Amino acid sequence: MKDLCVLIMAAGKGTRMKSAVPKVLQPILDRPIIDYVINNSLSAGVSREDICVLVGSGGELVESHLRNTFPDIKILWQHEQLGTGHAVKTALEFWQNYESLIVLNGDVPLMKPDSLKNLISASKQNDCTVITFMAENPGSYGRILHDRHKISIIEFKDANEEQRKIHEVNAGCYAFKVESLKKIINLIKNDNAQKEYYLTDALGLMNENNLSTGAFILPEEETQGINTQSELAKASKVMRERILTRWLNEGVRILDPETVYISPDSELSSDVVIMPNVQIWGKSKISKGVYIGSGSILKNAVIHENVNIIAYAFIENSELKENSKAGPFCYIRDNSCLEKNSFAGKFVELKNSRIGENSKVPHLSYFGDATLGHDVNIGAGSITCNYDGVHKNKTFIGDNCFIGSDTMFVAPVEVENNAATAAGSVITQKIPENALGVGRARQTNIKDWSLNYKNFHVNKTSKPEGEK
Ligand code: UD1
Ligand code: MG
Repeated sequence: MKDLCVLIMAAGKGTRMKSAVPKVLQPILDRPIIDYVINNSLSAGVSREDICVLVGSGGELVESHLRNTFPDIKILWQHEQLGTGHAVKTALEFWQNYESLIVLNGDVPLMKPDSLKNLISASKQNDCTVITFMAENPGSYGRILHDRHKISIIEFKDANEEQRKIHEVNAGCYAFKVESLKKIINLIKNDNAQKEYYLTDALGLMNENNLSTGAFILPEEETQGINTQSELAKASKVMRERILTRWLNEGVRILDPETVYISPDSELSSDVVIMPNVQIWGKSKISKGVYIGSGSILKNAVIHENVNIIAYAFIENSELKENSKAGPFCYIRDNSCLEKNSFAGKFVELKNSRIGENSKVPHLSYFGDATLGHDVNIGAGSITCNYDGVHKNKTFIGDNCFIGSDTMFVAPVEVENNAATAAGSVITQKIPENALGVGRARQTNIKDWSLNYKNFHVNKTSKPEGEK
């Protein structure tokens, strides 16, 4: 017989969220609620194949999310949501061959791994242990009743006035000895205010059957459930602050933590400096000594040591290598890379492009599907015309090239090493090594044009040259 398994109940409707998105997929920062519950079990040492999520309402979406994110965990369906007691019974085939069962509400995401470990230890002691907390506002939580060593729970809707005044409430996280749970699971009835099979009735039934019940208390910050959008916002705030505190403790300097967001999956290093209004999402990785200027948003960005993100940069699925510089006001996306000491500056967009070592794209440029060698200088306003309406085409610019301002590269096109372009050129053909590509009309000057223009319009004399 296997030792311990975790059942996460996530089949409920989540009516109080008033949203088309299933409750457990609503995000805290940038990850769904359910991911935090699963990750907490994994961090507490439970293996993936010993975790089962029960899905039901909106279950197709929840299932497909889980299959992508946690491919090895089990998923079971509760087709009709008849209550938490019914939910646990529905999953009998999953837990019946284990010694202990941990049941977690899928909407209680803030518990810490150490607390879950304590619950796991408790599963060896009582037949049922429940986590409780002292709620500031006990609202609709189930109330905890103590009768000497016995614990039972009365749901808010079934509680009398005296019981409703109790502040100690049920967190929705339980440890059961499987043998004991099997004895009473079929005894749970739905003769209550909500006509639901309550898992919380399991405790009273255990007491009646001479099985032991116990409780331990955790801080409300770890146990609050999410049933409404405002509870979701509150939980997001707690999680945001926890993440920031973690990185502050690791030596990250965050000037104004009130305005900064860091995702749970991002990794930072010491001596990173984060200015106000910065957001770091996804699986970003920020190395030592990086400066992230105000208003910058990073998503799945890999930022190497001593990079300077000046301000207002949006960097998505891209990499900035050592000592490179970006911004202000740049958009670097879709597998772009700034190699060491390179620079993408003001109003520059890079898409799937590589800027070689020591190269600079300082102002007003778009490079899409382009590869630039080392020590290239790009004049202001230069762009790649990479899309012909059907295909995306590539631009190659060799090492040490000097690109005049306002050059258009009509891709596919190549510029060989040490070549240059004349400002304002439209480059449609390869420029060989060391050559200057000129792709613009020659200038002609019309002598005395201004004088003649004035004479004609002001003094009504003869028509000037070039005037229709
Ligand atoms: C539940 C508890 C309450 C506790 C609170 C803590 C019961 C009867 N009540 O109330 O004592 O204080 O959690 O947050 O358990 N679910 C299913 N299938 C169902 C019904 C629910 O999977 O048929 C899932 C939901 O998706 C949710 C969890 O179980 O993740 C709890 O359900 P919810 O309806 O939120 O119960 P609460 O009213 O919060
Ligand atoms: Mg709930």
